[in-house]
Amino acid sequence: MEFGSGKVLCEFVGENIALLTIQSPENANALSEEINEGLLKSFNQLKDNNKVKAVIITGTNKFFIAGADIKNFPIGNFELARKYLKKQLEVFREIEQFPKPVIAAVNGVTLGGGLELTLFCDLVISSSRAKFGFPEGELGIIPPYAISRLMNIVGRRKTKELLLLGTRFTAMEAEEMGLVNCIVDPEDLLSKALEWGNTLAEKAPFSLELIKQGIDKDLGGVNEQYLIDATTFLFGTEDFKEGIQAFKEKRKANFVGR
Ligand code: COA
Repeated sequence: MEFGSGKVLCEFVGENIALLTIQSPENANALSEEINEGLLKSFNQLKDNNKVKAVIITGTNKFFIAGADIKNFPIGNFELARKYLKKQLEVFREIEQFPKPVIAAVNGVTLGGGLELTLFCDLVISSSRAKFGFPEGELGIIPPYAISRLMNIVGRRKTKELLLLGTRFTAMEAEEMGLVNCIVDPEDLLSKALEWGNTLAEKAPFSLELIKQGIDKDLGGVNEQYLIDATTFLFGTEDFKEGIQAFKEKRKANFVGR
């Protein structure tokens, strides 16, 4: 059985595991409106299917997810910015609150919103080829949901380093920080994810659901409304416009602090 949108393929691998593959090479699998809708639709359909015991999310070619869809940001439009930020949170929460475990099988470049998405997954398996980072400071924006979810995993000090410096890092560094559970050779990524999926499928579904809910119960220490307000404010700054323009022109941004 296959369903989903054109950019998010949803298929069953084996009896009980759903595999969601993001396939949008023209924008490096960035979280466009179409991909977000595809993810939401897939999770909503899977939620009602008792056969599903675990979900795997992966990307295609050298990209897992290269963050938000920079070319289609609603620059200067606060109403659309707010709507967009809420929709993104809705997608991430759908993953976090999904009653079955969700595994990210990270096959390649994972930046900004793509790395945020992994923070909402339950388990993360990384290809040794994957590269990570939070480039938002280069664009005049912030990764709001990394601010709310990263500290629990890497601690406050490392969160500031990753978000302020935006340095790109390897799968091995991600594993050392606890951002990924394990690293495998690229060709073994899906078989490892499937192996974990099958292990999960043998457990009692209610046990897994309540373990997941219990661990995630007190997450989101930073007020999400504050994060949406702060990010919306940035959508109106001169520096944000410059950051996006610089990305489109493939040059370094020249920020002025306005
Ligand atoms: N949103 C929209 N389009 C994106 C994108 C994004 N986040 N990331 C990459 N793309 C586009 C590129 O502009 C390019 O399109 P083009 O061929 O029309 O120019 C295409 O995807 C392929 O990317 P390209 O840069 O040619 O491939 P690469 O392998 O050299 O580099 C990345 C890939 C992902 C490392 C690089 O594109 C990058 O750094 N992107 C920005 C990521 C980012 O800042 N994310 C945070 C967003 S908040």
